[in-house]
Amino acid sequence: MNTTIESLLNDQIKYEASASMQYLSMASWADANGLNGVADFFYSQSEEERLHMTKLVKFVNERGGNVLIPQLDKPKDSFKGLNELFETFLNSEMFVTEQINHIIYQCLQHKDYNVHNFMQWYVTEQLEEEAMARTLLDKLNIIGDDKSGHYMFDRDINSIAASQETSE
Ligand code: FEO
Repeated sequence: MNTTIESLLNDQIKYEASASMQYLSMASWADANGLNGVADFFYSQSEEERLHMTKLVKFVNERGGNVLIPQLDKPKDSFKGLNELFETFLNSEMFVTEQINHIIYQCLQHKDYNVHNFMQWYVTEQLEEEAMARTLLDKLNIIGDDKSGHYMFDRDINSIAASQETSE
């Protein structure tokens, strides 16, 4: 495997692992603040990111590359409220999308069509996750500081997320 591509894939393993730990931290914050629906949502997002990471680890190994299991920075664990929580979610997804686009670009530069093909799955996944994060943040911006709105958001988040998935 081309060393630039191998190094980028190892970076991506770290970004997916960091997203998984960040969402676990957000799930725990929501849990501790009585937001059980939001907690469930982020526990599940954390699991998904872990799968994204493992998929890359397996792929690099299959291609005979050298996987470096990364050391991670401590995730953010305090939030002013739901808006900051979902801003963090959207920013994290936008960052991951940028990195994936960069890998795709480098694959074309190095004519690595195998990795390019493999990464298409991540492109689709990012489109869905970014759209979901945007939808949820838009809803929170409409709700503003209304406490009963936050209560309903927490109650309905998992069905909003599910309907977003089926509409794509
Ligand atoms: Fe796997 Fe949402 O980044």
